[in-house]
Amino acid sequence: MPTHLTARRSPALSGRVRAPGDKSISHRALIFGALATGVTEIEGLLEGDDILATAGAIEAFGAKVERLGEGRWRITGQGGFKQPAGAIDCGNAGTGVRLLMGAAAGYPVTVTFDGDASLRKRPMKRVTGPLADMGARLDWQGVEDRLPVAVAGGCLSAIDYVQTVASAQIKSAILLAGINADGVTTVSEAEPSRDHTERMLRAFGVEIGVLPVGGGWRVSLQGGQALTGTAVAVPGDPSSAAFPLAAGLIVPGSEVTVEGVMLNPLRTGLFETWREMGADVTVSNRRMAGGEEVGDVTARHSALKGVVVPPERAASMIDEYPVLAATAAFAEGATVMRGIGEMRVKESDRIALMAAGLTACGVRVEEEPEGFTVFGGPVRGGATVTTHGDHRIAMSHLVLGIAADAVVAIDEAGMIATSFPGFVELMRGLGADIATSE
Ligand code: S3P
Repeated sequence: MPTHLTARRSPALSGRVRAPGDKSISHRALIFGALATGVTEIEGLLEGDDILATAGAIEAFGAKVERLGEGRWRITGQGGFKQPAGAIDCGNAGTGVRLLMGAAAGYPVTVTFDGDASLRKRPMKRVTGPLADMGARLDWQGVEDRLPVAVAGGCLSAIDYVQTVASAQIKSAILLAGINADGVTTVSEAEPSRDHTERMLRAFGVEIGVLPVGGGWRVSLQGGQALTGTAVAVPGDPSSAAFPLAAGLIVPGSEVTVEGVMLNPLRTGLFETWREMGADVTVSNRRMAGGEEVGDVTARHSALKGVVVPPERAASMIDEYPVLAATAAFAEGATVMRGIGEMRVKESDRIALMAAGLTACGVRVEEEPEGFTVFGGPVRGGATVTTHGDHRIAMSHLVLGIAADAVVAIDEAGMIATSFPGFVELMRGLGADIATSE
């Protein structure tokens, strides 16, 4: 029986909390550690289900994986991937499966990749297409473009790939395959996507070129390079920090600080947008951690106004539109979000589910093929929201519920642990009225 969660209008929230480790960086730390020779010590690893699936996968590919303590993991890499005994189940994790496919394609292994019901619905050809162009062989086990798929790797040739969507997952998969390809692999993107792979590959000793081209860049690496194990300190995830901060903005009288949040400019589009909406969001104690700038982010209750979010900002906040939509419901006027068709192929169709959930809570929403507009006003609540097992849809509606007139329930809570284990306890610690029911 799935666990339901209910969120009720809460008194002012206050407190300081730490965001869980960044999901993007956690996947990469494990995968790069497995590809490397020697020891990679990781601190602050996100111990969410997505990451645990990747940890299981790299173990199956031959890495030694040890958990030393909370968030402290030691990976002993074999300098590459070995043939795993069985299929690789990536659970709910799109980043996990796509990066692992790219990495595995560089080795003479034949691997079946699979995932849960949500991951089986997501497009895979965006990654397997370029990998096939490099020489990988694919065998779709059911429907083309969907998991499960068997990937046979080895003997790859470099390609020049021009991205049609700003996707760090596609870019990363190609670059990881390029490490073992013959020649120089390049990926060009007109709009930059998150650059954690580029930064972290350098930390593992890989030479990687980044050339600005127009508003974007061209990333290149020579095949045949080796990774050397290193220490990785995982900064706090801005995509997770967004939920307690959003709650701070919409519950009257609140002040919430999330410590150690990564401030990579390719991830902070939401904070910029909130500020344009009139949000009191400030950053203190800026410092460097794990090769990234981090800071303590404070959100205080604010009178928000609707804005038009520039579509070119989408890549820097693609996972944050659900929680932005929840805060936009409390703003004065319309918040217009366009150029975000990619949201429809995330863990769920996030445009459709946010539109349905907000509408059920009495918020006016206009849905478009590649975006949606949320009209702020009184938020009635009083609905049970369908999440299709999407963690961010679940958390966004719980945040909405703590400032809505009537209780908001979500149909399934278990998936929150994919990215934010301890979310409910953390929110309760700030004063949010979130309860569990069977
Ligand atoms: C991620 C990239 C994004 C993002 C995902 C994590 C990554 O996906 O939505 O949650 O770690 O590279 P796309 O690159 O497909 O946009």
